[in-house]
Amino acid sequence: MASGDNREAEINPSEVVASPFQSFLNDLHLKYQSLRDGKVATYIPELAKANPDLFGICAIALDGRVFEVGDCHQLFTIQSISKVFVYGMVLEDRGRDYVLSKVGVEPTGDAFNAIVLDESSKRPYNPMVNAGAIATTSLIKGAGPTERLNRMLDMFRRYIGHNDIFIDISVFMSERTTGHRNRAMAHLMHHFGMIDEKIDEAIDLYFQQCSLMVNCHDLAVMAATLANNGINPITGEQAVDSSYVKDILSVMYTCGMYNYAGEWAYKVGLPAKSGISGGIIVVVPNQIGIAVFSPLLDERGNSVRGVKVCEELSRHFGLHMFDLAMGRCKVLEMLSNEEKI
Ligand code: DON
Repeated sequence: MASGDNREAEINPSEVVASPFQSFLNDLHLKYQSLRDGKVATYIPELAKANPDLFGICAIALDGRVFEVGDCHQLFTIQSISKVFVYGMVLEDRGRDYVLSKVGVEPTGDAFNAIVLDESSKRPYNPMVNAGAIATTSLIKGAGPTERLNRMLDMFRRYIGHNDIFIDISVFMSERTTGHRNRAMAHLMHHFGMIDEKIDEAIDLYFQQCSLMVNCHDLAVMAATLANNGINPITGEQAVDSSYVKDILSVMYTCGMYNYAGEWAYKVGLPAKSGISGGIIVVVPNQIGIAVFSPLLDERGNSVRGVKVCEELSRHFGLHMFDLAMGRCKVLEMLSNEEKI
């Protein structure tokens, strides 16, 4: 199931806020719904079945207000967006210095699946590209594969805020049987001492994390949790040690959009992460978590509509980090005047 079933929508309509911000999202959705540029991912055969029409935008404020439009309750696999959260988990498990000795924090300017390691240190460049993410996953603590998987799922549960989470076995198997490039990278990294001998275990766990099923609403809660210093704004649960949130946001900012990261930093100016299923999360620190879902991708593997929506949101509301720092952000003022329905 590539773009999975619609999980029973458990929305209490009173939680969705009618407001100028919501109207702006509605307008953006309408404007970009007809944009058909890009292609769905096909290199993982199961993902080729994705419906290109799907399109959702969701934003969650730190007081729990939800703004959403479109296909926000359609399930799909999280793919590379998972890398952000596993990185946080491994920082907790192993500490900053150890993780840094195995995975760098340098943007590459290369594609997400490039087979490239840092010339001198032999580390993968950063935890957001596939090589770095596989190395990161290999650092998850646990007595065996089951314990490691369960610990990882528990971590995702804390971010998502409910127990109803599953791995899409079809996508997992599809990637497991075709992911030779990732497997090759894992062997190369083992050769250079960056991952231990449990190569197949690390690769399986990496494919499992990428096959976690989420919807756009879940992703917005996860982004809002990072915006809220690691505390899920809906459940109040601490999803990750707050002292590591800065590390996570830094690599999202510099590396989260792959070889578009520089232009993204210039135009949108916010920590973000994309995934090959068409999701993008964006964190507005201390304000709001945003997620967009649309499976049509550009040549870098980023959602075409997702990038457009985020660029326009940032420009319109002054969300760029440096606009925020200079006090030019309009969304804060506007959100504080919102009324619940
Ligand atoms: O390892 C892979 O290639 C996929 N499981 C994840 C890649 C991905 O999501 C890249 N993002 N745009």
